[in-house]
Amino acid sequence: MKMLSLLFPLLAIALTEASQTPLNVPTVPNDSVQLCCTALSEALPSLVHLPGSAEYEHQQHTYFILQHTDIQPSCRVSPATTSDVSFIMTTLTKHSCPFAVRSGGHMTWAGSNVVGGVTLDLGRLNEITVEEEKGLVKLGPGNKWSSVYAAMEPYNLTTVGGRMPEVGVGGFFLGGGISLLSFQHGFGSDNILNYELVLSNGTILNANASSHPDLFWALKLGSSNFGIVTRFDVRAYLLKPNVWGGIRAYPITPSDTPTLISNWVSFAQSAAAKREELQALILGRWRKGAVEEVATIWHASLDDVPSSPLSTAPPLVDSTRKTTLLDLVDDLQSSDFADKKRNRWFTLTVKLDAPFIWDVFEHAKEIFDELELEVDGMHWDLAFQPVTEGFVTASEGTGGNPFRKVLMESEDDLAIACFLFSWTDPNHDSAMNHASRTLGAWSESLARQRGIFNDFVYLNYANDEQDVYGRSVSKGDLERMKEVKGIYDKEGALGRLWRGGFKIPGNDGESIKGEGESKVHYESAPRSEL
Ligand SMILES: Cc1cc2nc3c(=O)[nH]c(=O)nc-3n(C[C@H](O)[C@H](O)[C@H](O)COP(=O)(O)OP(=O)(O)OC[C@H]3O[C@@H](n4cnc5c(N)ncnc54)[C@H](O)[C@@H]3O)c2cc1C
Ligand SMILES: *[C@@H]1O[C@H](CO)[C@@H](O)[C@H](O)[C@H]1NC(C)=O
Ligand SMILES: *[C@@H]1O[C@H](CO)[C@@H](O)[C@H](O)[C@H]1NC(C)=O
Ligand SMILES: *[C@@H]1O[C@H](CO)[C@@H](O)[C@H](O)[C@H]1NC(C)=O
Ligand SMILES: *[C@@H]1O[C@H](CO)[C@@H](O)[C@H](O)[C@H]1NC(C)=O
Repeated sequence: MKMLSLLFPLLAIALTEASQTPLNVPTVPNDSVQLCCTALSEALPSLVHLPGSAEYEHQQHTYFILQHTDIQPSCRVSPATTSDVSFIMTTLTKHSCPFAVRSGGHMTWAGSNVVGGVTLDLGRLNEITVEEEKGLVKLGPGNKWSSVYAAMEPYNLTTVGGRMPEVGVGGFFLGGGISLLSFQHGFGSDNILNYELVLSNGTILNANASSHPDLFWALKLGSSNFGIVTRFDVRAYLLKPNVWGGIRAYPITPSDTPTLISNWVSFAQSAAAKREELQALILGRWRKGAVEEVATIWHASLDDVPSSPLSTAPPLVDSTRKTTLLDLVDDLQSSDFADKKRNRWFTLTVKLDAPFIWDVFEHAKEIFDELELEVDGMHWDLAFQPVTEGFVTASEGTGGNPFRKVLMESEDDLAIACFLFSWTDPNHDSAMNHASRTLGAWSESLARQRGIFNDFVYLNYANDEQDVYGRSVSKGDLERMKEVKGIYDKEGALGRLWRGGFKIPGNDGESIKGEGESKVHYESAPRSEL
């Protein structure tokens, strides 16, 4: 227990009978949560779901990663309106109940559910209102991108949203957001014109360029720090009738793949000038009987311009075609993602560099070779997303965001790397977390050695141990974010009660990460590794 209290000082206060409390039961006085669930069910009877009810189980089983499903909140609440959210927030803070917030449930570490607390499920906040004449769309956070694109398509409009159909609007925008339209229009959050949100004291605010502009700016990388966003008003763009794209996949071989990677780098650099095509490179490996290693390129030309293959090898798959954006997005949901699994992701940002990518792949094989024999259903991917100049500068005319400065520090074109590891058995969590941490640290140090490292840690791809705010936001901008937080969450209630997401370090008496220690204050998830 001693170690636990050191790691999680808040927990020490909350645990009154600590010595009898196993790790994965509520880490707060049980009465307060019961009070919250009872008060909420009395006021909003049809919106509160208790364990065992069909709706509770449905919500628990529609998260992307299985680690979320393991976490059992005392009740789940599904607000249907902004004023429901305001009432719920007031109730939670009044009784000091720990809570979590879930929109699409696609976060890749267990940061949108809370053991023994109250989980708000925003699925019913699913407004989609296209305002053609204003060139915007109003989106409830609980929408998935497939519904958004489908609703906008009849107007011949689209927006800077996710590339996979099931990802949620809420989490995507609060971490930035990389879209098929990002080369032309920057991150998703660069395109938000107004946020409607509920503050910790229950106040409903609109934050935009002229009303609460500091909060507007900070929300572009807001995560769970400022309030619960109940509506995003986002720029709409003309949807061309056809796009060209799809995937091309090749077997990985030492003779072909390094050339494929170099060609991909050159292409990404030329696309920077053209600002048209966004294509990611993914090196994947899994073992279903035999080992399979596949290099995949995602193509997407919104101007419907086909591009030639980046390899002369015969492809395993080539789905590139003239199609619609909606169809392309649906297609990107690979079948492996359809199986629910345990996941851990790691992200880093580097200058576009072909040898680095190949060397990381070779090293990953060394790390995972033996584990693959023991860990059921293991699959890993190293994905690289080009982030070229046009992508980064697109936020200039939109009031800016808190993370652009760090991306601009490197003058060259960058790639955001995302390493994805998945498996099925909770008994392998510890080994997989350890191995992915090892590969991450090794890759960062290689990038530093080679002078291609950039500090940026992309929030939407990061895991709970990564220092998103400390690295992706410049010192000055981080101070500004802290000030904003001090204004809109005066009592620090969100830092104290809202579990999950990434926290701006600082002003609610929370510990800030020391060397090598987790920055996250997510003390309520089961921690198999402690
Ligand atoms: C299959 C897959 C594909 C992906 N593709 C992309 C991609 O193309 N581009 C990209 O940029 N990212 C992508 N991601 C990453 C994705 O953007 C993040 O996982 C994001 O957090 C998911 O949002 P969500 O609403 O589904 O998640 P949730 O798990 O519901 O929420 C994520 C976090 O945001 C907080 N949050 C959610 N809604 C609100 C709200 N309304 N107010 C305040 N806080 C809120 C939650 O508390 C939680 O901390 C992908 C992820 C997966 C699993
Ligand atoms: C809370 O306490 C009551 C009474 O001690 C107990 O019956 C109940 O199971 C507890 N609930 C949780 C979620 O631990
Ligand atoms: C959308 O575009 C198609 C073809 O480009 C056109 O026929 C149709 O009228 C447009 N719809 C609207 C609502 O503008
Ligand atoms: C900004 O917020 C104010 C105050 O709520 C509101 O009147 C105005 O319409 C908002 N502007 C935009 C662009 O949404
Ligand atoms: C809630 O907090 C906001 C921001 O600090 C403040 O402007 C507002 O007056 C507060 N409302 C109440 C009812 O205290």
